[in-house]
Amino acid sequence: MHETERDLLRHHGDVEVAPGMLDFAVNVRGEGPPAWLRERLAAKLAGLGRYPSEAEDLAARRVVAARHGRDPDEVLLLAGGAEGFSLLPRLQPRLAALVHPSFTEPELALREAGVDVQRVILDAPYRLDPALVPDAADMVVLGNPTNPTSVLHPAEHVLALRRQGRLVVVDEAFADATVDEVTGVAEPQSVADLSLPDVLVLRSLTKTWALAGLRCGYALGGPEVLERLKQGRAHWPLSSLQVEAIAACSEPDAVAQSHAQARAIAAERVVMAGLLAEAPVRIALPAFGPFLLLEVRDGELVRKRLRERGIAVRRGDTFPGLSTDHLRVAVRTRDDVVRLVDALRQVCR
Ligand SMILES: Cc1ncc(COP(=O)(O)O)c(C=O)c1O
Repeated sequence: MHETERDLLRHHGDVEVAPGMLDFAVNVRGEGPPAWLRERLAAKLAGLGRYPSEAEDLAARRVVAARHGRDPDEVLLLAGGAEGFSLLPRLQPRLAALVHPSFTEPELALREAGVDVQRVILDAPYRLDPALVPDAADMVVLGNPTNPTSVLHPAEHVLALRRQGRLVVVDEAFADATVDEVTGVAEPQSVADLSLPDVLVLRSLTKTWALAGLRCGYALGGPEVLERLKQGRAHWPLSSLQVEAIAACSEPDAVAQSHAQARAIAAERVVMAGLLAEAPVRIALPAFGPFLLLEVRDGELVRKRLRERGIAVRRGDTFPGLSTDHLRVAVRTRDDVVRLVDALRQVCR
């Protein structure tokens, strides 16, 4: 079937995985949320007869605000980071610059709302050059760390995008999975904790907490920007369960758990890169996200052959600036990676 441009922008790794396959295509960690979180959510079920209240919303925003050292009025709870993208057109940008290769949902949301967009395509090794962004752009959207390149832009480069009259939108969906491998500091280049009125940070709880099905995230930004984002939104936009999950995952114990997981991912990524070095692939390094970008010859064929061997990897060509020879693979345990490397050695020329 012919793929439209919309199909390509809407493509997600989940459709590349069939039951029983070894899944390198999706970046969610695990099948579902941890037991403690399920219990918290289960405890809320009996109260579903009530509408979610302002008080619950404020309580959850307080927890998120405390996690980031910000005020509750700088927090907007979201049905996943994806909802944040869908709200961006309410800010009525004249020209939105989208830094690619990157996750394509922001571009789709803006384009479908009739916003003029311009792609800023970074070449390998995909480092951010603020000078490439057109001055006329009053909104710039970029991911940090970036999906699918796994590049982590230094915070000062992100902040160098700021200009009078411009909003910088940073998709930090994977920031909680990053760590400075030398110092061990978590979320090293995040700008989430800076109270800057012209920087909007979107966070997701999907990946770390295996909550893709519940839809949980939040925005951090200036109160005026958040007010404009909210204009026209449905009453009770989030369920009580979403509100509870966002609060629960932002409490200090949960944040400590996510940072421990980030360190585990970093260790797994080192092992994975070492094993992949034995396969006929090029790895985009250094990498900071819970995934690696690979380049292979005849990528489409390689992906098909891996699929025949029960291994799903994410195609790269739906990301502007990448080709069919790019594949994204989630960071996984040594045993899984050994299977991938064995298969790659068989199928790559
Ligand atoms: C880079 C990036 N940002 C945002 C999202 C959206 O996440 P959520 O599930 O919170 O809507 C994804 C999901 O794949 C993603 O990869």
